[in-house]
Amino acid sequence: MLVVHQRCECDAIRVPQKYPGKKYFKGEKAGQYSCNPLGKNPGDIWTIPNVKHNHVEKTIHPCQFPIELVERLVLALTNPSDLVVDPYIGVGSAACAAVLHARRAAGADTAADYLQIAHERVKHALEGKLKRRPLGRPIYQPAPGDRIAQRPEHLSRSSSDQPRLFATA
Ligand SMILES: C[S@@+](CC[C@H](N)C(=O)[O-])C[C@H]1O[C@@H](n2cnc3c(N)ncnc32)[C@H](O)[C@@H]1O
Repeated sequence: MLVVHQRCECDAIRVPQKYPGKKYFKGEKAGQYSCNPLGKNPGDIWTIPNVKHNHVEKTIHPCQFPIELVERLVLALTNPSDLVVDPYIGVGSAACAAVLHARRAAGADTAADYLQIAHERVKHALEGKLKRRPLGRPIYQPAPGDRIAQRPEHLSRSSSDQPRLFATA
């Protein structure tokens, strides 16, 4: 049986449940799914990769936001056709997040070169050509045995390098 939950603001940004198939095994809800089939609330801590040199969204801007960060806010807090205003718009990450979800966008920046890139990125977003990390893509986790996940031998701590506790009386 599928229980339909009332839509709330976070429905648009729910993330997969850890145990989506888990059901109540006793009581009056026995046999029903014990979690929201639409997914779980993303919670208070959002882990989203920042835009570093090898990030697909990287431009010349030294501190641009990942689109996914603004995208969640746009989806949770606005409705289609609402106006999203970023007065420090930089290269337009918030504007891209807005137009990707049928919202309107406006903003300002003191740097003309950033604004030009913002215009290009918004145009690409509207044309479906924007280079971006997709919303909800899991963060890459190397397997424990992968060489990239090993601490290099020469950086291993000897026992004398281990941190020691300090406390005053
Ligand atoms: C943290 S960055 C914003 C980056 C943006 N969220 C993005 O992802 O591209 C802050 C921006 O504010 C701009 N800025 C600084 N002072 C400003 C001002 N007085 N009015 C408008 N923009 C300003 C800077 O040029 C910079 O691009």
